[in-house]
Amino acid sequence: MLALALDVAHEAGDLLLRGRSGDVVAETTKTSPTDVVTALDRASEELVASRLREARPGDGLLGEEGADDPGTSGVRWIVDPLDGTVNFLYNLPNWAVSIAAEVDGQVVAGVVHAPALGVTYTAALGDGSARNGVPLAGSAVTDLAHALVATGFGYTVQRRIAQVTVLTRVVPQVRDIRRMGAASLDLGAAAAGLVDAYYERGLHPWDHAAGALVATEAGLRVGGLHGRPISNDLVIAAPPALFDALHDILATDPPADRD
Ligand code: IPD
Repeated sequence: MLALALDVAHEAGDLLLRGRSGDVVAETTKTSPTDVVTALDRASEELVASRLREARPGDGLLGEEGADDPGTSGVRWIVDPLDGTVNFLYNLPNWAVSIAAEVDGQVVAGVVHAPALGVTYTAALGDGSARNGVPLAGSAVTDLAHALVATGFGYTVQRRIAQVTVLTRVVPQVRDIRRMGAASLDLGAAAAGLVDAYYERGLHPWDHAAGALVATEAGLRVGGLHGRPISNDLVIAAPPALFDALHDILATDPPADRD
């Protein structure tokens, strides 16, 4: 499944790179005027869906652009065909195709492929994770005051207000914050120690499924609120020694609203 995800992610990445060489326009918006989608988001999902169906006809598929099929095999693919759409629109290179394979609800393989960066993160459950084939171990920072922390913002006004409120409590306690614009790559960056930790509220499964496995397999603690697994409410990926301190700052907030 990892090999298949890798092949399909490369094919979709090539399609997006070719498309990016022409004019890219925001076709329409989704949950709010800031939540853009381009024709290429949709073309990428169509390509990924058709390749996965050809290769594994009984599998399910959940995709950001509307695919939602439980399948019959117990395997479900979770796909963000273009994570970082706003970066893509502005020709900033931080965007990726994210593909995860879930077996009976557990993610077992994940690929986050960022062709404009020349970076591909891969992970298989129990088998470690890698960046361009090089095995990963997350940051060894133990003190939040020395931590560079990545996060992101959702698209609705309400969610953004809540996220900025949280940020006012996080910023004074960390080395600095990065907002790079693609959740799957933020998780990869945390796995690679390019940032020390990452958190975001209000993500969707396609944003975090592959990247969370990459981070977990790099030795990070990846979890949600109050010992629960990650969910759309909260994803934290941090070195074990940082996790609780970051969690405790974030745990006092009301649940994230949903797009
Ligand atoms: C978004 C990006 C962004 C994150 C948002 C996501 P999209 O995904 O991952 O970094 O902050 O929460 O929705 O819309 O570019 O696929």
